[in-house]
Amino acid sequence: MSGISTSTSTSTSTSTGVSTGTASVEGPGAGEHGRDTGTIRLGDRTRGEATDDTTRYAPEWLQLREGVDASARATELLDPLRIRLANLPGRSGGFVIHDLGCGTGSMGRWLAPRLDGPQHWVLHDRDPYLLHFAAVGSPRSAADGSRVTVETQRGDVGRLTADALAGASLVTASALLDVLTAAEIEALAAACAGAGCPALLTLSVAGRVELTPADPLDAEITEAFNDHQRRGDLLGPEAVSAACDAFSGHGATVRVHPSAWHLGPDESALTAEWLRGWVGAAVEQRPELAARAETYLRERLAACEAGELTVVVHHSDLLALARPAGGS
Ligand SMILES: C[S@@+](CC[C@H](N)C(=O)[O-])C[C@H]1O[C@@H](n2cnc3c(N)ncnc32)[C@H](O)[C@@H]1O
Repeated sequence: MSGISTSTSTSTSTSTGVSTGTASVEGPGAGEHGRDTGTIRLGDRTRGEATDDTTRYAPEWLQLREGVDASARATELLDPLRIRLANLPGRSGGFVIHDLGCGTGSMGRWLAPRLDGPQHWVLHDRDPYLLHFAAVGSPRSAADGSRVTVETQRGDVGRLTADALAGASLVTASALLDVLTAAEIEALAAACAGAGCPALLTLSVAGRVELTPADPLDAEITEAFNDHQRRGDLLGPEAVSAACDAFSGHGATVRVHPSAWHLGPDESALTAEWLRGWVGAAVEQRPELAARAETYLRERLAACEAGELTVVVHHSDLLALARPAGGS
């Protein structure tokens, strides 16, 4: 099979181990490094809330990136967050943290042990399969040894309301913003503002990558990939600036910090998977790239395997500190 895969119908389990019924499989295609990276796009409307627009993320892909995600997230935003949490009124019983688009729960595994105090995490996703992994793999204790508990909630985070966040101490997300629309980000900002709840929204793609050594096709693939991310109403690389505007518009103080992936020889498995998804999405967006992109991908994968390729994938983390509810 060519390294560049676009949608192919199948009715069997995929290499991801997810049984798809009558689904179409996109190889690590167009995910948040293309929305569909390592995903399966459902084509079977009989499966619950799934529609043609619903993307499922392979837990293997989320697991592959978890360590690099953990290293990339901006720890610089944690102190301002800790200060805000310490000053939240009425939190003696501990913090309630809503993780949106939790996937298999990597954000909780990263953040819970970095915060003091008892925490109850509400893990939101529309994919019940991923929620199962998130519940099983949830963190158990906070930085100071306090208890961490979790519950899962299946649903569409694009429809979050302030009521749903009543009593929340914090909203988190990781690798989510760029797969939302402007309306969904506005709803999120409004919900956080209404609940007076801070938000730590990590690892949104910035639309910039640096590959070393460089190749003349890098820029064209990047452009095609970014356009792919913007398909439909999705914000893709514009998500962070849209979120800054939305949260600021609701009176929040917003800080953004870079959180790039730095991929070298030690991360070759992730790099190879990312490359397949990145190039695959670019070709899906601009089919005229196919022949050149196939050669490009073959050479890039060979360099990756030989330990001769480094990649920086730029992301941004955003901390929005809403005015506390009832405060001035
Ligand atoms: C790229 S994955 C990131 C998962 C996880 N946060 C992580 O960092 O590993 C995006 C996740 O968001 C979920 N998701 C995307 N859009 C959603 C929506 N509108 N409502 C609920 N979940 C959504 C997907 O099912 C997926 O689990």
